[in-house]
Amino acid sequence: MPRKPLIAANWKMYKVPAQAEEFVKKFLPLIEDKDRAEIVICPSATSLAAVVAAVQGSVLAVGGQNMHWAEEGAYTGETSPLMLKAVGATHVIIGHSERRQYFGETDEMVNHKILSAVKNELTPIICVGETLEEREANKTEEVLLRQCQIAFKAVEPEAAENFIIAYEPVWAIGTGRTATPEMAGLAHFYIRSQVARLLGRKAADSMRILYGGSVKPDNASALANQPEIDGALVGGASLDPVSFAKIVNY
Ligand code: 13P
Repeated sequence: MPRKPLIAANWKMYKVPAQAEEFVKKFLPLIEDKDRAEIVICPSATSLAAVVAAVQGSVLAVGGQNMHWAEEGAYTGETSPLMLKAVGATHVIIGHSERRQYFGETDEMVNHKILSAVKNELTPIICVGETLEEREANKTEEVLLRQCQIAFKAVEPEAAENFIIAYEPVWAIGTGRTATPEMAGLAHFYIRSQVARLLGRKAADSMRILYGGSVKPDNASALANQPEIDGALVGGASLDPVSFAKIVNY
């Protein structure tokens, strides 16, 4: 079974609800083939409800950008999996490098969140990737292996078949410096082979591995042509409906 491509928009801390609705209205008519790829929009928490309402009846799915692993509790400022689900989200980004870098998220926290996403039937989009320093020290594989090993602790292989991994080299995020398709392809191949070792061949073959980091309309197709790349997690270029549509339609 070939893997269906998936293109996800990570809007980060941009767009109030009115801007999010405006995006959906302009974006929907621009999708050329509604069945070719799955499309997931991940707005900020305060725009989730508006986006869920705006995408009703369309092929778009909606995801959160982060969540706590607990279902409820005294965790000021956090969003729980139950809250994401109640508002209509089906996906959630976990372990984005900005969460790791600026908010102290660890591999162990990523693991708790993944287990909680499985329990609460949310599809996790799990971000992994090395920093520039790590790449230059030839530690890319070591970092990816550690991130995967800890992320997948106690995960059932069957549950993992629906997981989405996003390989996002930190040095390529928001910098305009994209990994070459070959570089990304090699990292994806490595991640998939480690997933096979940790969770079995079936999970590894079903799991979609997206590339993220300065994906733009002009580099999307070269990246997508790599057999190991199953789609993209797009930041900056997903904020504009025309440029995101070009990436979706590549
Ligand atoms: P950019 O596409 O802006 O580089 O961001 C990538 C990213 O972090 C997506 O999660």
